[in-house]
Amino acid sequence: MNRPGSPQSEGDVITILLVDDIPEARENIKKLLAFEPDFRVIGSVGTGREGVAMAKEMKPNIVIMDINMPDMDGIQATSLITESVPTAAVIMMSVQNDPDYLRRAMLAGARNFLTKPISPDELYNTIRTVHAQHRVVAQRLSAMQQVPEESLRKAVQAEGTENRPGHVIVVYSPQGGVGVTTIATNLASGLMKEGIRVLLVDADLQFGDIGVLLNIQSQSTMVDLVDNIHDLDTELFDSIVFTHDSGMKVLMGPARPEYAEVIEQNNPTAVAQMLEKISGNYDFIVVDTSHQLNETVLSLFDIAAKIVLVGMPTLACVKNVRFVLDLFDQLNYPPDKTFLILNRVLDDRNRQRFTIPSEKIARFLKRPIELEIPSDELTALEAMSKGIPIIARRDKSRSPVKELMSLSDMLYTQLVGQEEVEDFDSSADKARRKPGLGLRLGKA
Ligand SMILES: Nc1ncnc2c1ncn2[C@@H]1O[C@H](COP(=O)(O)OP(=O)(O)OP(=O)(O)O)[C@@H](O)[C@H]1O
Ligand SMILES: [Mg+2]
Repeated sequence: MNRPGSPQSEGDVITILLVDDIPEARENIKKLLAFEPDFRVIGSVGTGREGVAMAKEMKPNIVIMDINMPDMDGIQATSLITESVPTAAVIMMSVQNDPDYLRRAMLAGARNFLTKPISPDELYNTIRTVHAQHRVVAQRLSAMQQVPEESLRKAVQAEGTENRPGHVIVVYSPQGGVGVTTIATNLASGLMKEGIRVLLVDADLQFGDIGVLLNIQSQSTMVDLVDNIHDLDTELFDSIVFTHDSGMKVLMGPARPEYAEVIEQNNPTAVAQMLEKISGNYDFIVVDTSHQLNETVLSLFDIAAKIVLVGMPTLACVKNVRFVLDLFDQLNYPPDKTFLILNRVLDDRNRQRFTIPSEKIARFLKRPIELEIPSDELTALEAMSKGIPIIARRDKSRSPVKELMSLSDMLYTQLVGQEEVEDFDSSADKARRKPGLGLRLGKA
């Protein structure tokens, strides 16, 4: 039997670059790493500058970087490596457990942090965890590097969101528990208007909970479709999709986590393929996702017209959002493909004390935050326990109902166009007089 660290093939070996100005420190880590067959140290250098040069040349999977170094320090070197070698993941080392250092290292793009003296188990676990988290992203980026830039540009242009049948909106956060499912459900519900066909998809394959949020018990799930993707037709799809009391259609995720594994292992792009096939039947497809950056989620990003990227005003979350935004840049997504929002924002008094102010976050992310949704635990829990979306509340002027309503209005405007939004908001009669979204999108 294989032990946990045994590589199955050459491709499973994790290549590592060590950057530390103290030679004995580098030697010690190298010795520890030599005990594990899945690690290979491919370089060991003593300055930040050399670290950046060697990372560019050797393209290691992991860089273990000391924070305090003469010449160029670990934070600056990490920034440069993250920018120029995005397939490498940096783990920062420091003697002291200083929260300010940790903050700066994470914001520079380090994926994790080790405090010296480092125990062997801590070292091994951190490397393996960071590598596992980063692997799918790194594979995607290195595949892109092999495609000539010109054809890539053409592909991105061809993929433009104009004329795409049905708008796929993917809601995602790199952090769990931020409110992705709540937002996806309310967004889908907010987009439901006279004559507009909305599909809500639970693509959090392992632990999806749209069924709980909307009080749906359905036996049919996307698992029933995966074997028929190539000849998926409207009739088959409709027989699987659940119709909620509100008229919204819902494609449920696998009923059990082990079914999710089957999809993820056999065809991780299955959900994206399904949605592309049936997108002509809907005006909007809203997709709930898991926080893991796996191939399922990446393929959904690819087909999305908009990605609603959800953050919370905490350091860990902002750092992860920054990583995702950098990834989107590297994937050549146009900036307006991403719609950045903050959820669970505290009121003015508490926000200053416990969280990072939004202006600071926007400055750090170099992007505007398009919407802030206030924290309202009771309303969110009440909606969940009743199995109805938050925006179904009668009092539409109250937070967070009004912010969730404006999320669907803003996205509608951005995707469909300003002039039609007036119809969207006004009477049903007026909406009926318009040729209709379906026609405009080239549908019957
Ligand atoms: N604006 C908000 N204010 C207060 N609580 C909220 C808000 N939005 C969501 N919540 C609560 O946060 C918790 C997590 O929400 P939700 O399940 O939507 O998040 P998620 O990102 O989908 O989580 P997971 O990673 O488990 O899928 C729930 O208890 C929900 O009621
Ligand atoms: Mg969720």
